[in-house]
Amino acid sequence: MAVILVTGGTGYIGSHTCVELIQAGYEVIVLDNLYNSSEAVLNRIETITGTKPKFYKTDILDKEGLRRIFAENKIDAVIHFAGYKAVGESVQIPLTYYENNISGSVNLYEAMKEAGCKTLVFSSSATVYGSPKSCPIREDFPVSTTNPYGSTKLMNEMILQDVCVSDPDWSVMLLRYFNPIGAHPSGLIGEVPNGIPNNLVPYIARVANGTLEFLRVFGNDYPTPDGTGVRDYIHVVDLAKGHISALRYAMEHKGAEKINLGTGNGYSVLEVLHAYEEACGKKLPYKIMERRPGDIAECWADTEKAWKLLGWKAEYDIQAMCEHSWNFTVKNPDGIR
Ligand code: NAD
Ligand code: UFG
Repeated sequence: MAVILVTGGTGYIGSHTCVELIQAGYEVIVLDNLYNSSEAVLNRIETITGTKPKFYKTDILDKEGLRRIFAENKIDAVIHFAGYKAVGESVQIPLTYYENNISGSVNLYEAMKEAGCKTLVFSSSATVYGSPKSCPIREDFPVSTTNPYGSTKLMNEMILQDVCVSDPDWSVMLLRYFNPIGAHPSGLIGEVPNGIPNNLVPYIARVANGTLEFLRVFGNDYPTPDGTGVRDYIHVVDLAKGHISALRYAMEHKGAEKINLGTGNGYSVLEVLHAYEEACGKKLPYKIMERRPGDIAECWADTEKAWKLLGWKAEYDIQAMCEHSWNFTVKNPDGIR
C-alpha cells in the first residue's frame, strides 16, 4: 500500500482528498500546523472512512520537523495543499505569503529530495491564467499574475518545473483548480472560512443561515449573459478525486504536467444564487454593487487534457454542489471543533 503525505490535510480540499485516498486504499499521513483548520477534522475523516490518518502537527517552515517525518516514514508521494490562500490578504502582507507559500514549499521539496521521494501533486490555481484572452482556458494559455497569492502559485510551478529539468526522476503534477465549492455529502467535512467569507458560495451560505443580511453581487455590467461574473465551480469531492487520478498518473510517469481541474461549465453569480435558493428552500436577498477590483468577467476550464491524460472528469452538477454546501452549513453551525 503506497504511503502518501498530505500537507494541509486537515484543510478544506486536503480533508476531502484524505477521504478519497483512504477509500482508494492508500495509507495517509497528514501534516498541518492547524493555522486554518482543526484537529477534529481527523475524527470526521475516521467517521467517514473508518481510518484515522497518522497526524503530524508540523509547520512546513520547520525544516527539522519535515526531515523527521520523512525519516520516520517511508513516504512514496506527497500531495501539497499547505499554504495561505486569501488573495486580498496577500496584497496586504506579501512577505508573509512568500515566506509561507514559497519558503515553506522549498523546504518541503528539499526534504523530499533528501529522502529520495520525488513524486508530488501540487495545488495550483486558475489564477495563474491572469486575465485569459478567451474561454475555455487551455493549459497552454499564457500565464501571469495580479497579486502576491497568484505569484506564489506561479513561482511554485516554475520551481517545480526547474526541479524536474534538474533531475528527470521527479514526477510533478501541477493541478490548476478552478472554483472549488460544496462539501462531502455526509455533511461531516466542508469549508470553514475564518471571519466574513470572501468567496461567493461561503458568503451565500451565511446569508442562507441568517448570519449575513444579503449577498453583495459585485457588478452586473460584465459582458456575460446576465451581466454578473461567470466561473467554473467544481464540487470539492470531484476535485479530490482528480487528485487520486493525478497521483496514479504521477506514479507511472516522469516530468511535470500542468492540468486544469474544472468542470468546463461556467455559471454566473445569479445562477449560483438561484441554485442555492433551490437548495435551502428560501429566497435569498441580494444587492448589486460595484465591480470588485481585480475580478475578471469569466473563467472556465478546457477539461480535455484532464480527461485524456488522467481519465478524470467532474460529475456533480451545480445543484448538488449547493445542496452539499447547505447540508454542511446546517449540520455545523459552529464549524468543525
Ligand atoms: P485551507 O486553508 O482550508 O487548507 C490549507 C491548510 O494548510 C490549512 O489546514 C492550514 O492550516 C494549512 N497550512 C497553512 N500554512 C501551513 C504551514 N506553514 N505549515 C503547515 N500547514 C499549513 O485551504 P484549501 O481551500 O483547502 O486550499 C488548499 C490548497 O489549494 C492551497 O494551497 C490553496 O492555495 C489551493 N487552492 C485553493 C483554492 C480554493 O478556492 N479553495 C483554489 C485554488 C487553489
Ligand atoms: N462574488 C460576488 N459577491 C461575493 C463574492 C464573490 O458577487 O460576495 C462574485 C465575484 O465577483 C466573482 C464570483 O462571485 O464573479 C466568484 O468569486 P470568488 O471570490 O468566489 O472566486 P474568484 O473566482 O474571485 O477566486 C477564486 C479563488 C482564488 C482563485 C481563483 C481562480 O478565491 O483563490 O478562484 O481560480 F485564485
